[in-house]
Amino acid sequence: MRTIILGANGQFGCDLTKAFRARGSEVTALTHQDVEISDVAAPEALWESLKPDVVVNTTAFHNVEACESEPRTAFAVNALGARHLAVASVQHRFKLIHISTDYVFDGAKGRPYTEEDLPRPLNTYGNSKLSGEYFIQAGAKDYAIVRVSGLYGAAPCRAKKGLNFVKTMLKLARERGEVKVTADEFVTPTYTVASAAQVVKLAESGVSGLFHATPQGQCSWYEFAEAIFRYTRTPVKLTRASSADFPAKVPRPRYSVLENKALREAGLDIMPDWTECLRGYLMETGELREE
Ligand SMILES: NC(=O)c1ccc[n+]([C@@H]2O[C@H](COP(=O)([O-])OP(=O)(O)OC[C@H]3O[C@@H](n4cnc5c(N)ncnc54)[C@H](OP(=O)(O)O)[C@@H]3O)[C@@H](O)[C@H]2O)c1
Repeated sequence: MRTIILGANGQFGCDLTKAFRARGSEVTALTHQDVEISDVAAPEALWESLKPDVVVNTTAFHNVEACESEPRTAFAVNALGARHLAVASVQHRFKLIHISTDYVFDGAKGRPYTEEDLPRPLNTYGNSKLSGEYFIQAGAKDYAIVRVSGLYGAAPCRAKKGLNFVKTMLKLARERGEVKVTADEFVTPTYTVASAAQVVKLAESGVSGLFHATPQGQCSWYEFAEAIFRYTRTPVKLTRASSADFPAKVPRPRYSVLENKALREAGLDIMPDWTECLRGYLMETGELREE
């Protein structure tokens, strides 16, 4: 299988590149320097010369505050970028795997969202990503849209100054000795290594459609922080906060847990429990002190 990873030096892109290579796929790992995804003509020569079977798009303009102040860029990258790929996937006959987000939902459901639930994004980032999904559903033939949430991986998240929630918690605990975390916002944090294995499985399965691909279970950000400190034996004073304690500049869903219904029904759900994923990440990064 010839695979192209777009955004290959990003947090998720790094693990996707490794995961496809580990399965024997011939991978071309492309970065922003190689391709500007909002430019319709830029990748044309690549499709011609590389003739990919699969293209995985992790690229995004996904700093939520920046999307709000720069909506044109958000839509150029997250919506039109996806449209360009959808058109190319038909013309050049590749399977398009596109990474999307839990932020397409408003959080009002209060129970895990399935792929059948109606999206209602609260902010520009969510709206631009949802537009990207719609362009792919309308224009591509062989595609998998993969929604993830709260990504964390060993490679730095480029849009978040190299940080993810786990790194931020450990940094704050070590610098300040105390941390206050919201206990009334719920997610399923997603380890990029586990999600990358799931994407490879999807690519190899030949199925098409919209898929939620997060670990099993759910937690509040407070519970996530509590598990991070417990597994790493980090001494810290951890306090429960409410979302009102951290007024957000941009509205975000308070509950964005995703259920992997479509994967499960296709017999393809290989995502482990979120606590197992966290231990895997802490082991990979040398932080696990549990045993
Ligand atoms: N991080 C999360 O918590 C989270 C949660 C849910 C969903 N997601 C989705 O997961 C995906 C991957 O996130 P990540 O954490 O791996 O992000 P990341 O580390 O910021 O990586 C994003 C990659 O996309 C590239 N990129 C950005 N704009 C581009 C453009 N206009 N043209 C070409 N390449 C561009 C970046 O390169 P440069 O840095 O050089 O621009 C980087 O390589 C995104 O689609 C995001 O929407 C993320």
